Amino acid sequence: MITEIKLENFKGHQSTHLNLDNSRLHALVGKNSSGKTSVLQALSYMIRLTNESFKSIFKNENSPSFIITSGAIGMSVDVHGTLQDISKQPWKISYHLDPKVSMWDTSVIIDKSFIPRLSFDLGETYNDEQSGWEISLKDRQSSNALLLGNSEYFKLESRNLAKAAYSDKISPEVEFNGLGLAPTLDYLRSEEIEKFNKLQKMLQQIVPNLKKIRIQRAKVQINHQRSVSIDGREIAYDENQERIGQEIVLDMNTGDRIPAHAISEGTILALGLLTILMNPNKPKLALLDEPDLHPHQPKLVLLDDIEQGLHPRAQRELIAIFKEIVQTHPNLQIIFTTHSPYIVDELDFSQVHVLDTNSSGFTTCKRLDEHPDVEWAKQTLTTGEFWNAEGEEWVNEEVPEEVVNV
Ligand SMILES: Nc1ncnc2c1ncn2[C@@H]1O[C@H](COP(=O)(O)OP(=O)(O)O)[C@@H](O)[C@H]1O
Ligand SMILES: [Mg+2]
Repeated sequence: MITEIKLENFKGHQSTHLNLDNSRLHALVGKNSSGKTSVLQALSYMIRLTNESFKSIFKNENSPSFIITSGAIGMSVDVHGTLQDISKQPWKISYHLDPKVSMWDTSVIIDKSFIPRLSFDLGETYNDEQSGWEISLKDRQSSNALLLGNSEYFKLESRNLAKAAYSDKISPEVEFNGLGLAPTLDYLRSEEIEKFNKLQKMLQQIVPNLKKIRIQRAKVQINHQRSVSIDGREIAYDENQERIGQEIVLDMNTGDRIPAHAISEGTILALGLLTILMNPNKPKLALLDEPDLHPHQPKLVLLDDIEQGLHPRAQRELIAIFKEIVQTHPNLQIIFTTHSPYIVDELDFSQVHVLDTNSSGFTTCKRLDEHPDVEWAKQTLTTGEFWNAEGEEWVNEEVPEEVVNV
């Protein structure tokens, strides 16, 4: 479970510190461009370091310098957490870009307190001069995965969720942008029918008009990028192939077999979110035989802009279901961004992180329960009402120092 996030010179975050409470469900709110998505991005890079090298993460970007605050030299992301078992052992994962040394310099540091658990794969990289274990990129995988499981970052788009899709994977997954929902649901329905039924029930809570989720066979166009060599020159071309994949159709009160693209955006988004949260069964990484660590379940799910297209009542239902899922998955932590007071309303003050920008344009951040009037507010207002009334400006206001010795 992540307890602290520290960003230094990461995009618009010159120096941001977030302290997460132990609810495992956390909202980031604030105006457009206040840096909410960037927090999720910083965490998602950390997650991706589990499977990929820094270089491959940035291979499609011009340069990693785009994640460094403009004008700054280097950046760092430090994430602290504790194990979810009874030991509650602390851990820390950091990565940094240091242009002075090398653009790609990055490390994962597990605090010394963590050694007993991880000594099996870190033996060679111990460096006593530094206050922890330094793991090279290739050694990093098991430790990062142990801490984060199959964590993932999503920015779902209803258009992608609604698309017919084909997967040749044994256990398909919803992709970052929402593609692949139909095969994932098909897998759930055939391999984990109980989960599928539960998911359908949960969706009915959000969308009462829903009768049944169906997945049917559908033709899918698959585009392959190929190249041929002609006179020593590589010529790229696209090759289209037709496959039989799946598409989602929903039985609604108003009619049966309504295709996903004709369903409301909110419904399909809720279906996508629930599928991600209900499908924590991806044996991607065979880890330790420690049942309490649940290595196959995602430990962290990052969701950007969760309320798109949902009616206020459906938003409340959605967050109620998130709470239920977090309750039933003791290792799962969800961090999401939202602009919705209805969603905030369903949370405690300590679950809401308010982001704003200071006069120089850098992100500043406080938890709603750090507001000077919080005690009064808790008795008078709901969380959403309080945020609505107070906005974000207070995050940058100096708290007047108590006058002592008058
Ligand atoms: N390299 C950078 N240096 C400084 N600021 C940056 C950098 N990259 C992005 N930003 C700032 O971050 C903002 C985007 O933040 P974002 O996390 O997307 O906000 P939100 O999700 O709250 O709308 C941009 O508008 C820009 O001002
Ligand atoms: Mg955003």
